[in-house]
Amino acid sequence: MAIDPRELRNVMGHFATGVTVITTTDKEGRPFGLTANAFTSLSLNPPLVLVCVDKTVDCYPCFEQSKVFVVNILTEAQEHLSRRFATKGIDKFAGVAYHTGECGAPVLEDTMGHIECKIVNAYEGGDHTIYIGEILTASASGDRPLLFFKGKYYHLPQ
Ligand SMILES: Cc1cc2nc3c(=O)[nH]c(=O)nc-3n(C[C@H](O)[C@H](O)[C@H](O)COP(=O)(O)O)c2cc1C
Repeated sequence: MAIDPRELRNVMGHFATGVTVITTTDKEGRPFGLTANAFTSLSLNPPLVLVCVDKTVDCYPCFEQSKVFVVNILTEAQEHLSRRFATKGIDKFAGVAYHTGECGAPVLEDTMGHIECKIVNAYEGGDHTIYIGEILTASASGDRPLLFFKGKYYHLPQ
């Protein structure tokens, strides 16, 4: 039975998630990134995470070029960053505070936390690629995450 993609998107939207910005670089070291909620903790020993990246996103080639990415976990005050990094054709990093992480990819400032990764495997996942990242550094703090549910942003109750 064929599933209509719009209906599938609707069903998947019922799974509430946090929101991340996945950052990486091109081969010249220029910063790239995209908003992503297809992010999962995978393994503690060895420490692994996975992210699923649409093959049509502009920054797609960067993952193969740099072989690194950073998972930046957004706070409820960073909805504007989620929108910005989900917008094609703009200079996504203009006016955005970040520093270069140990892996060479951008680490956004004032997030809930970030996880720097080296890509150790990539798997075909239909119209996405599943990147497995070995964690190089990780830190997090705070308790006000940005949430995403049924296509809208939410905050935890105060
Ligand atoms: C809340 C949210 C979650 C998203 N999750 C993903 C994701 O997990 N993987 C993905 O490839 N795109 C995801 N997207 C879409 C990308 O952020 C969007 O296509 C982005 O513009 C791609 O960047 P680029 O084409 O400018 O490189 C998500 C968008 C939003 C708003």
